[in-house]
Amino acid sequence: MNDSVQKNQDYKKFVVDNRLQYFKPHATKIEKSFAEEVYSSLNRNSKFIHPKFFYDKKGSELFEQICSLPEYYPTRTEESILRKLQSQLSEFLDDEYRLVELGSGSAVKTRLLLDVFSKLQDRVEYFPIDISEILAESSEQLLQNYKNLTITGIIDTYEGGLEFLKTYDAKKNLIIFLGSSFGNFSPVDGYKFLETVYSTMKTGDLFLIGLDLVKDTTILESAYDDSQGITAKFNLNVLSRINDELDADFNLKNFEHHSLYNENDQRIEMYLKSLSEQSVVISKSNLVLKLKQDELIHTEYSHKYRLSQIHDLLDDVGFELKHTWLDDKKHFSLTLVSKN
Ligand code: AVI
Repeated sequence: MNDSVQKNQDYKKFVVDNRLQYFKPHATKIEKSFAEEVYSSLNRNSKFIHPKFFYDKKGSELFEQICSLPEYYPTRTEESILRKLQSQLSEFLDDEYRLVELGSGSAVKTRLLLDVFSKLQDRVEYFPIDISEILAESSEQLLQNYKNLTITGIIDTYEGGLEFLKTYDAKKNLIIFLGSSFGNFSPVDGYKFLETVYSTMKTGDLFLIGLDLVKDTTILESAYDDSQGITAKFNLNVLSRINDELDADFNLKNFEHHSLYNENDQRIEMYLKSLSEQSVVISKSNLVLKLKQDELIHTEYSHKYRLSQIHDLLDDVGFELKHTWLDDKKHFSLTLVSKN
């Protein structure tokens, strides 16, 4: 282990074996609890629940199901672009690189990139940064399949993990942020996030970002309101989570999944609609929530981009554009930038 990490007192190191280790902060930064966040986001006129709360065990399973729905084009489209990119990425990897992933990612997409690294380098290092402990489980499988692979996981927020990486060592990094997860940030938070990525990077580091593109409204709306009702279940599941974890009494039958494409703001908006006038007790938040009939609780934005907007945004932050890959229908994009 190099000195800079030894010096990093904020993280505890767990060595599983000589190919797998992970770092976890000693204490998570002082963040509001789930109960407090739910209180402040629901005890107001325009009510919302932050989308990060979708992903409990059940929610993560439902999201996996969404990714293979016929209507949900982003996952398979991004995979098809990655297959195309595979033969061209080596042009941009002029040195030994480490693969850093924001989120521990879908096994398929990560593997498509590890395949490229394995062909180019004798040793491959993979650094997933993910708040969820699932990281340790998914790593085992990768290690079995890639004999030249070592994994260092950071179990922390993206910002925390990036800060950790900043002082780690001098090796070049290819940082990837796939799945158009960036689209779930508000524009202000998204910009700040890109600045954090930029400030983490050293000269020569690369950043690959997958973003969903503006397209026909019908295609967009059916991707977020599928015929099997899986997206509806995913949205409603956040209420079950509040019931279970915060001792609440939401009756899921009194709510409906509601989503639409807002053309002006170029985003899918997801809500939970109250089907009657009702009140809900959320004990651990100390809240009696009163809802009118048809009142909406906002749960998610999923922004869509034009190519020129992606390029302008990355350019504003200071990145240098290297290449953008698209699928034939121009539904999704992968953009590679560097810091010079
Ligand atoms: C995780 N994120 C990129 C998904 C999206 O498409 O915005 C979340 C999602 N919400 C409903 N369907 C998928």
